[in-house]
Amino acid sequence: MKVRKAVFPVAGLGTRFLPATKVQPKEMLPIVDKPAIQYAVEEALAAGIEDIIMVTGRGKNAIEDHFDRSVELEHVLAAQGKEDLLSDMRRIAELVTFCYIRQKVPLGLGHAVLVAKDVVGEEPFAVVLPDDLIDAPVPATAQLLAVFHRYHASVLAVCPVSRESVSSYGIIAGEPVENGVYRVTGLVEKPSPEEAPSNLGIVGRYILTPQVFEELEQTPSDAKGEIQLTNGLKGLLGRQAVYAYELNGRRHDTGNKLGFLKATVDLALKHPDVGKAFREYLRGLDLDEEGSNTDGPDG
Ligand code: UTP
Repeated sequence: MKVRKAVFPVAGLGTRFLPATKVQPKEMLPIVDKPAIQYAVEEALAAGIEDIIMVTGRGKNAIEDHFDRSVELEHVLAAQGKEDLLSDMRRIAELVTFCYIRQKVPLGLGHAVLVAKDVVGEEPFAVVLPDDLIDAPVPATAQLLAVFHRYHASVLAVCPVSRESVSSYGIIAGEPVENGVYRVTGLVEKPSPEEAPSNLGIVGRYILTPQVFEELEQTPSDAKGEIQLTNGLKGLLGRQAVYAYELNGRRHDTGNKLGFLKATVDLALKHPDVGKAFREYLRGLDLDEEGSNTDGPDG
């Protein structure tokens, strides 16, 4: 069955980027010259997704405007003969249908996915967390879809994480079924290094069967009052097969400052306009200079 729809939960408050995110959604912070969310939208498009369902909250209107046509701006660009910029801006608005639903209170990622239930309906769908920017030769969502079409079951994207950081992830227990693919046998949310059943952490890409909605409806809120997606997935695991797929590519968690900076540096180095000059600039930096600190926690 074709996967046509992708849910983008973007209703989080982005407190780790305050004050930058006081009036601006974190998804609109630019990485080089594109808002972070546009990388994820382009990835979904490249994977053949036709409908993008954004689950938004208060203060996220800029996302809706960004993916809409801007007649005044198009008029100015056309008058200035900036055809490339013009077609770039039109392309996304024309290629995909966007639908916006409000998560009225940010009650967790699982709750945000559940808000999209009626719009998704009875079909498998993708979930894309734009904080995870995956720089890969084959778009991450397309990689997961290939696994989905082989096993006809939900697929979670995973990446190896360091022992110290397992407690920041949902960690899978799984049996390998082919290179990079595991049949999931258990899920542990934010375990200690001793409790972690593997080093494979769930990252922000999923292909899910619609039965996950029934599970999320029955998932109780956690101590923080949030419905966690991982807990809904645990329920799903009790009734049907779930697979995990080790993404091929470089993942940046742009939802935290250090990850955001790393993504910016990596993508700036590859950028056709500024890559060369930026590389030279970085080469010339004295990184041992007082005040600069190259050590520190990863993320
Ligand atoms: P995060 O845990 O990164 O939370 O959410 P956040 O609010 O976005 O950021 P911080 O921690 O305050 O800095 C992970 C993903 O789940 C979405 C977020 O928008 C992000 O894409 N989310 C989270 C929701 O859509 N609704 C929620 O209630 C919680």
